[in-house]
Amino acid sequence: MGFSAFILSLLIVISTGYPSLVTSKNGELNSLMDLKLNLDPHNRFLTSWTVSGYPCDGSFEGVACNDMGQVANISLQGKGLTGKMSPAIAGLKHLTGLYLHFNSLTGEIPKELSNLTELVDLYLNVNSFSGHIPPELGNMPALQVLQLCYNQISGSIPTELSSLKKLSVLALQSNQLTGAIPASLGDSETLIRLDLSFNHLFGSIPAKLAEAPNLQVFDVRNNTLSGNVPPGLNRLLQGFQFKNNLALCGVGFPSLRSCRDLDHTNLIEPKTDIPETANVNLNCSQTYCSKSSKSRRGYYAVGIILVSIVSTVMGFFLFSHYRRRKQKLGSSIDHFSNSVKTMNTTMVETTTQRRKNGSPLINLEYSNGWDPLADGRLSLHVFSQEAMKRYRFNLLEIETATQYFAEKNLLGKGKFSATFKGVLRDGSVVAIKSITKASCRSEEAEFANGLNLMTSLRHDNLVRFRGFCCSRGRGECFLIYDFIQNGSLLRYLDLKADDVRVLEWSARVAIVRGIAKGIEYLHTNSVNKPSLVHQNISAEKILIDHHTKKPLLADLGLHKLLTNDAVYSSLKARAAMGYLAPEYTNTGRFTEKSDIYAFGILVFQILSGKLQPGACSKRLHELIDGNLCGKYLENEAERIAEMALNCTRENPDERMSINEIVKELDSCCSCSSSAV
Ligand SMILES: *[C@@H]1O[C@H](CO)[C@@H](O)[C@H](O)[C@H]1NC(C)=O
Ligand SMILES: *[C@@H]1O[C@H](CO)[C@@H](O)[C@H](O)[C@H]1NC(C)=O
Repeated sequence: MGFSAFILSLLIVISTGYPSLVTSKNGELNSLMDLKLNLDPHNRFLTSWTVSGYPCDGSFEGVACNDMGQVANISLQGKGLTGKMSPAIAGLKHLTGLYLHFNSLTGEIPKELSNLTELVDLYLNVNSFSGHIPPELGNMPALQVLQLCYNQISGSIPTELSSLKKLSVLALQSNQLTGAIPASLGDSETLIRLDLSFNHLFGSIPAKLAEAPNLQVFDVRNNTLSGNVPPGLNRLLQGFQFKNNLALCGVGFPSLRSCRDLDHTNLIEPKTDIPETANVNLNCSQTYCSKSSKSRRGYYAVGIILVSIVSTVMGFFLFSHYRRRKQKLGSSIDHFSNSVKTMNTTMVETTTQRRKNGSPLINLEYSNGWDPLADGRLSLHVFSQEAMKRYRFNLLEIETATQYFAEKNLLGKGKFSATFKGVLRDGSVVAIKSITKASCRSEEAEFANGLNLMTSLRHDNLVRFRGFCCSRGRGECFLIYDFIQNGSLLRYLDLKADDVRVLEWSARVAIVRGIAKGIEYLHTNSVNKPSLVHQNISAEKILIDHHTKKPLLADLGLHKLLTNDAVYSSLKARAAMGYLAPEYTNTGRFTEKSDIYAFGILVFQILSGKLQPGACSKRLHELIDGNLCGKYLENEAERIAEMALNCTRENPDERMSINEIVKELDSCCSCSSSAV
């Protein structure tokens, strides 16, 4: 007996018990070992996982198998694991539960997880995952609980998650998520708990969420949300938590103030170190561009893009709370682990508009000699030789103009850009905006097209684009614009009564009209240029000519040059300032009508003389700037205010078009029209 009987029985077990599973089991073993290699490289915590072992004989710590001898659950919460999660996890095809919370896992969440078609529970909360939520996770047919809270995940919430037909718990709190709340989550018939608190989300709360039939808990505390709270959410009672947001309003919630006419305008004071002009132009021959700067002064500006100065200031100060992740865990986990229920309802298929996510290309460098317009390359397709001559500056010219980026010439700095004042050889004064390479689109053709577009824009109410220069040596691209002496419209808002800058009525009308004309030009298709949405209209982007008070739109087409991440960071500021049209939340897209919305807000600002005309009532005299001391034409004011109201309608289809606006201004306000 003894030994030979043991061997025999072992053989029997092996050959009869699991005959067909040997290969897949080896596959699973390999996957497990690969996981271990990354999570516990020094073999300190998962000593029971060995190459020669059997995952399903009960010896592998934290591994549970189903009746078929396939790995079904991995429970390794709080095991002190570190490192990245291997994509090899996808090899565990029959996994139904993955519990890795309370560890110190880093890196991105592997998109390969989406291959786990039987996975029901995914607990990755309370780790140090970073990067974006892979949109692929939206393809997991069995997923019911997605716990990603208490990590450092950034980017926006992929609308694809709305396609999870069985999802009951979505816990994303305490991350660094930004962007809007996807309205399509409201289509989910299974969702019970939705926790988005302690992130950087902005925009309004989509009305659709109130329609999710099974929703019980919806938490959006400590974000930067604004606007009207859908009244339907009050059926959740205490289940709906919304404290510490930027500017929510609504009826039916005791702690919320009611919304006013202009509830897009909010309460944040932008710090106004706004550059006089926010534009730059780059134009270098490769030879010049790739030679390194003679002086390192100003080099600190590298890496900084001035998409929006305001965004820097506001974007992050609101959220500088750094939570003590681990401590809070206990409660959050218990909180959510109860509600795992299977619901076999099918979900209405959502129209998922892909929102702009951060570009994965952001860190890629242009392959060679980063100069999208280097001689003999793309330039031939996009630019005529003549345009090249006219718009291309070389680095030496830029350095000379700015006195080697002297501090005294620095007009402003943002997260991704810096703007310098400069004087060109012909004596003209320019504003030179430098953008770091990392913030420029990595696709050279796109970038060159963007530049080409910028050179094609010419209108009395647009800041003139003078040229560009891309320098590989400096890792920067420069955009050169006319310098506008007196800065932006911001300088004319929130003034004291005796300030000489207080604009008189006719100047205000002329400014409104000038802005409208500039937008009309942008929105109109012509032989020389396609129609273009500005996307970033705000008081900061309206420069006011010192003498004539003529308004000039700045940063036209800039979004065509920047990575989505860079564009995104300016969005947040705009949302906070109230310029972001409410439908952006649903569509994630900018249209002519979203420009019109921002224009409407601007008009209110100009009429009221205030950055935040929040308290304006329906009464005209309360809206109009008191600094005018009643010196305005009432009938004009009334029509302009009505027009602004129309522009800021919730429903984009109800807003006027820019042509209608220009017509209305021409007909209503001829008395004041000669000012500019
Ligand atoms: C896997 O975990 C789930 C949830 O805890 C449990 O219901 C299920 O029985 C587990 N499966 C196995 C095979 O242990
Ligand atoms: C939430 O917001 C409030 C108010 O802004 C702030 O006092 C609090 O510290 C924030 N909480 C966290 C954890 O950041």
